[in-house]
Amino acid sequence: MNKDKIKKRILFLQENLHIHNHKYYALAQPEISDFEYDQLLNELIDLENNNPEFKDTNSPTQRVGNDISKEFNQVIHKYPMLSLGNSYSIEEITDFETRIKKTLPDEDIEFVCELKYDGVAISLTYIDGFLQQAITRGDGIQGDDVTNNVKTIKSIPIKLNSNDFPSNFEIRGEILFPHEGFNELNKERESAGEALFANPRNAAAGTLKMQKSSIVAKRPLDCYLYYVLGENLQYKSHYENLLQAKSWGFKVPEHIKVCKSIDEIFEYINYWDKERKNLPFDIDGVVIKVNSFKHQKDLGFTAKSPRWAIAYKFKAEQEKTKLLSIDYQVGRTGAITPVANLEPVQLAGTTVKRASLHNSDQIKLLDIRVNDFVFVEKGGEIIPKIVGVDKSLRTNEIQEVKFISHCPECNTKLIRVEGEAKHYCPNDTGCPPQIKGRIEHFISRKAMNIGAAEATVEALVDSGLIKDSADLYSLTKESVLSLERFAEKSANNLIESIKNSKQIPFSRVLFAIGIRYVGETVAKTIVKELKTIDNIINSSTEQLIEIEEIGERIAQSIVDYFKDAKNIDFINKLKIAGVQLEVEEINNSDFEDKLNAQTFVISGTFEKYSRDELKELISKYGGKNTGSISAKTNFLLAGENIGPSKLEKVKKLNIPIITENDFIKMIEE
Ligand code: IVH
Repeated sequence: MNKDKIKKRILFLQENLHIHNHKYYALAQPEISDFEYDQLLNELIDLENNNPEFKDTNSPTQRVGNDISKEFNQVIHKYPMLSLGNSYSIEEITDFETRIKKTLPDEDIEFVCELKYDGVAISLTYIDGFLQQAITRGDGIQGDDVTNNVKTIKSIPIKLNSNDFPSNFEIRGEILFPHEGFNELNKERESAGEALFANPRNAAAGTLKMQKSSIVAKRPLDCYLYYVLGENLQYKSHYENLLQAKSWGFKVPEHIKVCKSIDEIFEYINYWDKERKNLPFDIDGVVIKVNSFKHQKDLGFTAKSPRWAIAYKFKAEQEKTKLLSIDYQVGRTGAITPVANLEPVQLAGTTVKRASLHNSDQIKLLDIRVNDFVFVEKGGEIIPKIVGVDKSLRTNEIQEVKFISHCPECNTKLIRVEGEAKHYCPNDTGCPPQIKGRIEHFISRKAMNIGAAEATVEALVDSGLIKDSADLYSLTKESVLSLERFAEKSANNLIESIKNSKQIPFSRVLFAIGIRYVGETVAKTIVKELKTIDNIINSSTEQLIEIEEIGERIAQSIVDYFKDAKNIDFINKLKIAGVQLEVEEINNSDFEDKLNAQTFVISGTFEKYSRDELKELISKYGGKNTGSISAKTNFLLAGENIGPSKLEKVKKLNIPIITENDFIKMIEE
């Protein structure tokens, strides 16, 4: 690859990993498997290491993930919460052992093997035998204080047994959602019409971040603790420490083995790779740790993980089952997704009946046919994937799949744009799922925030009362009341909610319109630059590309959208309805430029504003906010409990530190 290509690939990987990080840690809705994620991350680490001129302090390689949400107080970890190096092969474990033996050639090394629990990491602080604080990993430096929720977990002691514990120590472990409770929870959610959790880990993460600990208490979370940290620990090895922690009342790993040779480690790995399906909770691998604390100290840490431990990750669990039929789903953009109906099969603790087939290329690539026996695998998604076919079980009658040529909903001939994997139904104004999907997107919380359920949209479209989102603004209470599902109060609420949406700022309206590739952030960027819908409509691709962060693909999509007369009619209907289609100018001249495009990093906790509010203020007054400190940072906006590593870095780079009050003065002056 030449330098230009390398740079492009690095930017592509960084952008994608940021997106997947957010989906995994903040939304608890991962879209790719850990294995796929690690492959992308490792490729990026290699490319950055071999091409240091493209290193970036904001790259996903610089951090361990983030699950901070604004509702909880953030607390700096006394000891950073590092992660473990991942490995997927026996060779990598052999390399790990060789490295250790090379560093400590004259020592007999003992290893401890444990299960790698697939849950949410937690750090507990005990003072004088009482649970003081429970903090999530967050970004490894600071996490969310979820003490109240954690106190509801029955296997975590609030008060310790015996008296031989240090007066102040931390213990870390993993909070799990066992299969049985998880399946029940999803069943309840299904009957209540609520979104299902993709897997037990997401259910554990979602539960831990709930605002009401009374609801947390009703969910059967469990916790294994596997790492004791503190100044006055009595024992000299990890294994002894765990046994002692057990005597204090903690649930520590049960299936733990002290190994003196690499063969014993392999035996443990192979045993649990098969046996894991009989455990009542998910594990995703095995963790191998050097037992002696002296050895651990000699080996030390890299910037991200200890050199004395490694995780061996299992390949995702697979099962074989029969492919009964294929359904074709039509999405909001008209994209067709084939979905396999399977003979129900138990996989990783849940019953699987459907699997995504993605697109026609995927069906061809794997040569998947109806009535084949297929291998299904669970990544992070609710719908598992088909990863292969057992061709030895294929009989002669089994025919190749003929991908549909017409839309299953409106019978329009499908099209396939060159270079794109998906087939599309081009009947965007007449195909019911496309119409409904666009309206559902338009009214969604982050767009126009109009309170209407999916069934309401369905009823409004099916009755012919609305044909597009702009028609919502012509609805009257009387017309809504003509529908069966509405009574006086619910009709009033709907009309009121539609009326209120006229106050929604332009950037959210642009997002709500639903132009392909124009997500929330892109919409904000464009609105900041172009200010009015007419400016956007009149912009050429070249002009749009001039805007920072807008690439050719997005620019082309916007231009194509406004080339279509139907879409201009739709915008005109929104204009007539009084929806915000330009930024309110009064604000801009007042706010903008006060911070003169200077870059701020926020760290610690604040008195007057939350971190999110501060970020909004920075952006409102024309500044920039970034996550990590670099030579480009102009100010560190520091609150209470600021991380020591951040302080050290700003001092080194001579970056001024300002308080919350200094910042308020800057914007009020
Ligand atoms: S030890 C210094 N032991 O896996 C690192 N971690 O990928 C201490 N995990 O962050 C971690 N089971 O959330 C350790 N038996 C176990 C584990 C375990 C699961 C998680 C933990 C860690 C992640 C690393």
